[in-house]
Amino acid sequence: MTSTKPLLDTVLGRRGDRLPIWIMRQAGRYLPEYRELRARAGSFLDLCYNPELAAEVTLQPLKRFDLDAAILFSDILVIPDALGQKVRFETGEGPRLEPLTVGRIGTLDLEGAHEGLAPIIETVRRVKAGLAPDKTLIGFCGSPWTVATYMIGGQGSSDQAAARTFALTQPAAFARLLDVLVQASIEYLAAQMRAGADVVQLFESWAMNLDEVAFRDWVIEPNRRIVEGLRREIPDAPVIGFPRGAAGNLPAYAKATGVNLLGLDYGTPLSFAEQLPAGLGVQGNLDPLRLLAGGAQMEARAEQIVTAFRNRPHIFNLGHGIVPETPIGNLERLIAKVRSL
Ligand code: CP3
Repeated sequence: MTSTKPLLDTVLGRRGDRLPIWIMRQAGRYLPEYRELRARAGSFLDLCYNPELAAEVTLQPLKRFDLDAAILFSDILVIPDALGQKVRFETGEGPRLEPLTVGRIGTLDLEGAHEGLAPIIETVRRVKAGLAPDKTLIGFCGSPWTVATYMIGGQGSSDQAAARTFALTQPAAFARLLDVLVQASIEYLAAQMRAGADVVQLFESWAMNLDEVAFRDWVIEPNRRIVEGLRREIPDAPVIGFPRGAAGNLPAYAKATGVNLLGLDYGTPLSFAEQLPAGLGVQGNLDPLRLLAGGAQMEARAEQIVTAFRNRPHIFNLGHGIVPETPIGNLERLIAKVRSL
């Protein structure tokens, strides 16, 4: 049985006539209409918690481009913010959080999170009401390890050393933190799906820099528990997992987590898909800077990607988020190229 939604069908393992495409961070600063609305909204988090404006931003890219999905406009850091560890976004510098101490972990408030995230669930409802029936609505959250790296470090970092050190020196407190994040994520994703999300994506943006033991305990196991817990609430919930930088740990992640479809970053060689379970779908994986640069090299690589994944369910996407300097015409040309293949 197929739905009316090519992207949802692909997540569920069915290859149809249309190769679905969406773009990570498709609502954002490369769009003038986003910058205009963002200037009116106040802070970035104010925008995330404003259902009317967040729904409008979510739908902006679909008005302009022939895309198969809308992704909820929000951020992975609304979970710590709603749990009580307040988040600020410094212009040009990224997120800032008051670093988490062992003592504060016990004060993180799951009930408060449910309430704090309610405006985002309202955004999902509004987007669903405005979305054409052939478009898939993607909900998401950050995976526990990735969210924990920001909570412990207080900001982004290139090696996640603060979180890795914390996890190794305070294992009991770290396990408690992962438990809270798993629980909050299950409830948040289930609420998104009840409000109309068709598919959810787990963003594990910092899956690199981990040995295989840490990867199993901090990445695979929490993601597996989220998928299992979500499916207790929403049977057969369709899930895309995106463990960015997982490299040689990808097959273990694909086998153990239960995700329906695997997001590949652009560093993953196309032939690596042969090491994944047969029939498992993939998403990706054009380098966002190839889109920024545009032209023949972009089109040639897009064609290589489509050809390499022609024998399994495939969602075309970038291998990470679109960058703000990307010319809009390049994205138009990329979509036209993918549609022509
Ligand atoms: O994809 C989409 O269009 C949906 C919205 C979305 C945003 N962030 C909006 C956003 C999604 C899915 C995210 C996920 C997210 N947020 C991740 C995982 C994906 C990834 O890129 O690895 C991470 C690590 C974050 C945390 C985060 N949010 C950072 C590090 C930053 C600052 C860096 C930057 O690009 O400025 C943000 C801010 C952010 N999230 C913006 C947007 C549109 C820019 C904020 C602004 O408009 O000023």
